[in-house]
Parts: sequence; structure tokens; C-alpha cells
Amino acid sequence: MRVEPVPALVGHVAVPGDKSISHRAVLVGAICEGETRISGFGRSADTEATMAAVRALGVDVIEDDVDTIRVQGEGLFGLREPGAAIDCGNAGTLMRLLSGILAGQRGRFELVGDESLSSRPMERIAEPLRRMGATVETTDGHAPLVVEGGELQAIDYELPVASAQVKSAVLLAGVLAEGETTVVEPFPTRDHTERLLELAGAPVTRRPRSVTVGRAERLALGAVDVPGDFSSAAPFLVAAAIVPGSGVTVHGVGLNPRRTGLLDVLERMGARVAVYNRRAIGGEPAGDVEVRASELVGATVTASEVATLVDELPLFALAACHARGDSAVHGAAELRVKESDRIDGVVEELRRLGAHIRATKDGYRVRGVPARLRGGVVDARGDHRLAMLGAVAGVSSREGVEVRGSEAVETSFPGFFELLAQLEEA
Ligand code: S3P
Repeated sequence: MRVEPVPALVGHVAVPGDKSISHRAVLVGAICEGETRISGFGRSADTEATMAAVRALGVDVIEDDVDTIRVQGEGLFGLREPGAAIDCGNAGTLMRLLSGILAGQRGRFELVGDESLSSRPMERIAEPLRRMGATVETTDGHAPLVVEGGELQAIDYELPVASAQVKSAVLLAGVLAEGETTVVEPFPTRDHTERLLELAGAPVTRRPRSVTVGRAERLALGAVDVPGDFSSAAPFLVAAAIVPGSGVTVHGVGLNPRRTGLLDVLERMGARVAVYNRRAIGGEPAGDVEVRASELVGATVTASEVATLVDELPLFALAACHARGDSAVHGAAELRVKESDRIDGVVEELRRLGAHIRATKDGYRVRGVPARLRGGVVDARGDHRLAMLGAVAGVSSREGVEVRGSEAVETSFPGFFELLAQLEEA
């Protein structure tokens, strides 16, 4: 896919429902009593894998519309052993969160994934789930995984890495376990699981750095409305910040403070950011976000804020390339175990476009120049976030960018390129 430079991006868009919340609504819905109606469901290859997974476990999912589905819950311990392995595709959230739920079910469950997912670390969930009493086998620390569920005991668990997926796996097992399970996190990570479990009636106690869940008697969600995905809004917001003369508003987007670190960082860089119509959608803060182009200065992202913009750090790197002065990201070694190595990948791809960026062991260093990058070729490396990065680099470049493997956007955001084209001012 070739992405040509544009003079400016102007207009209003809405983005698909939040991927993290969509996965969770289906997974929690599967162990609820009765029906969960999910509106604003963010349909993508990843979330379709989640629907297929719960169906394989005996849960009916009715698709009323692209973004409205109904999950017929089977109750806390009602999932059935499928005849075949469950394919989690590219979705780390699915594999890790589902393992937590399966740890408390009777049966033997095999989870497989694509090449990228099969190279990502899985001992991080296997270890705490074993401590709770499940049998979890990894393949040298990776998928395929085999989970043999059973009676679980609560644990107190200190996360070795700031990971919402690991936290969520333990919490989901925790609502099925005897006793009170506490997870302590090094830095606050997205709390969508806690919010949904609370909405579903689970006993949840929250503190700034930890969360405790008790065994649930029953869960029921009823209806969940999913806000727009901040991570899908981010490419448009960053494009608006770096292409002179731009002004873009993304409507109805989730603004959970544990997800919106990019807005704080953009503001520090001098971007013009405004939020209108703050409201709650599906138990989550939401609103309309406007970003207007302005001159940017470099910024430093510290380890304590990494989790709040972990999926947006590649886009931050691109914004930093356009800012006056130096920028850096520290404490983001987790980027090396995402859908691709998002440190080496981002650095190699942006350098080929003319950027002054280099990799460190746990982040980036960028020397910004307030001018368009030359352009060239970006290889998405099978990673949806790199495909979107390449597209934003294309609109903001001098000569355009050929995004190789652009179909990777299907993982989280089908329709991304069409929406981007709508914002281009001729
Ligand atoms: C996610 C958590 C983050 C994030 C991923 C989605 C989630 O991963 O990068 O895209 O839905 O919980 P980690 O928990 O591995 O940091």
C-alpha cells in the first residue's frame, strides 16, 4: 500500500471499539450467567479469534451486526473441553486472559497461535497460574500451551513486569479461586478487567498499585457499551500533531487515564490537545479528542509512564522525529516482546525514511528535526502497529511511504487506510 504525503489532515472521525475491552467483554461474558449484549464491539482479526475461542468452548455468540454481538454465558465453571486446539491467532490478550479463565475450568485445553504469538513469552502467565493450582505447560516458555484446569487457590502475586495481560490472567483465575487473590503491579497498567469484573458483580478492591479479587458467586454483565479504541485513535492524533495545518477530532474515544499517556506526552511536546464532551461509556471514561498541529519540542518518556502509552510508543518515536531537540524513551524493554520487536523494528524502519533515531536496550533516542521525513519503504513486519506507523509516516513525509505488509492492520483496525484517506485535505 502506497501512502502519499498530504498538505494537512482535517476533519472528524470515529474509530472502532476498544480492542482490549472487546476481548474482555467476550471472555467475561462467556463465564457470566445469561446474555451479555456488547455494543460498539471492536471487530478485528484479534477479537474475531476471541469469539471463535469461546464458541469452541461451548458458548453461543450471536452477531446482530458488525459491532453488536450477544454472548450467551455458560456460568463461572461452564466452559467445555473442545475437540481441538484453540487458535488464538495473533492475539496475546486472548491467549493470556483465556488461560486465566481456563485454569479454573475442568478439562484439558490446548492454545496455539500464529508465528508471532508463538514467539512471545508465556511463562509469565504459566507461573502464577501454576501457583494457583492449575497445570500449565508451555513449549520452551511459549505457545503452544496446555492448560489443565481445576480447583484453584488464591495467591498474592507481585508482577515482575508491568503487564495488564498478566495481571488480568491472574485476576480472572482469582474470581474462580478459593480465597482472596491480590496482584501488585510495579506501575499502574490498564484496568479494564477490574472495571468489567466489578460491573459483573465480582468482589473487587482497588488500590493505586494493587487489586484484590475474591471468589465470585456469579457474574452477570447484561449490556456493555465499548468506547472507541484510544490506540486506534492515536495514529490520527499523531498525524494531526506533526503535519502542519492539521486539525483532527476523534469522537467517542476511551480516555481511561491508564491508556492516554500519549496525550500527556504530546502536551509536553507542545501539541494543541483538547478534550470535549467528557462522558462515561461502558463504565470507562470517554470523550472527543481534538489535536491541532503546532511546533513540537522533544520529550522524555520515563519508565513509570510507559504502561500508559505502551502501544503508542512507536507513534511517539515518529512525533519525536518531527520535534525540535532530543527525545528518549526509557524502561520500555517490553516493546521487544510485542507482536514484533518494536524497538529494533521502529528504529530500522524510521531510519530508512531519514530519521535520526537509535535503539537502546529499553527504548529509543531520537534527534528531532522540525521538517518532514524523506519517505521510502516501511515493512510492517507482520505488526499492525508498524503498519499504521508507516501510514502516518507516509502522510507526513516529503515523498510518500510504501507500506509493505499493510494488511497487518486487520489485526486491530480493518478500515484504517480508508479512514486516513478521509482526513486528507487535497
Ligand atoms: C493489553 C495489554 C498490553 C498491550 C496490549 C493489550 C491488554 O500488553 O500492549 O496491546 O489488552 O491487556 P501487556 O500486558 O503485555 O503489556
